[in-house]
Amino acid sequence: MNKRGLFVVLEGGEGAGKSTHARRLRDWLAARGRSVVLTREPGGTPLAEAVRGLILRDWPEGMDAATEALLMFAARAAHLHGLIRPALEAGKDVICDRFVDASYAYQGAGRGLPAERIAALERFTLQGLQPDRVLVLDLAPELGLARAKTRGVENRFETESLEFMRRVRAAYLERARRDPRRYVIVDASQPLQAVAAELQAAVEACL
Ligand code: TMP
Repeated sequence: MNKRGLFVVLEGGEGAGKSTHARRLRDWLAARGRSVVLTREPGGTPLAEAVRGLILRDWPEGMDAATEALLMFAARAAHLHGLIRPALEAGKDVICDRFVDASYAYQGAGRGLPAERIAALERFTLQGLQPDRVLVLDLAPELGLARAKTRGVENRFETESLEFMRRVRAAYLERARRDPRRYVIVDASQPLQAVAAELQAAVEACL
């Protein structure tokens, strides 16, 4: 039987460079002869991407925090079923651009849902599965939002207030500090190469 693959998650606020670094990590692991799947949340499978479309759209009646959280976890359940679990079980490494910590940071700290409600959804959906490493790309929200703006069309999260993004950042840092064996905080204001080197070192440590 194959050894289970490595499950690595990149997290952080808007414009922290997660997608760029997720691709670089994928290339770096693949160059070491590993079989790697790069994916993202919300999304990653056709069904989960369809739910992503619902989440990121602007609805005339707005979207309350409970609906947003439930849709995030519906997308996550579909993603786990359709991609993450089968890949890990086949011995492939999975690099995921955002995962459950984003729900604690955005729907919890950002929107104000109590953390125990997110934890209940986490237990129901993940059934004990945990990433091996969570890499938190930390950046001042002023910088991150400015970077996100240069990418063009913004989604409903990218137009949130600085206060919202400060709560998101604080939640990521707090979660990372509570579990330093699984989380690594990387200063995303450093030059790209320096960030990439720190991320690789953090992943290498669990190979
Ligand atoms: P992306 O821009 O990283 O692709 O993600 C889309 C947005 O979804 C992003 O602004 C953060 C948000 N999000 C949550 O609010 N909760 C979650 O659980 C996830 C995975 C993403």
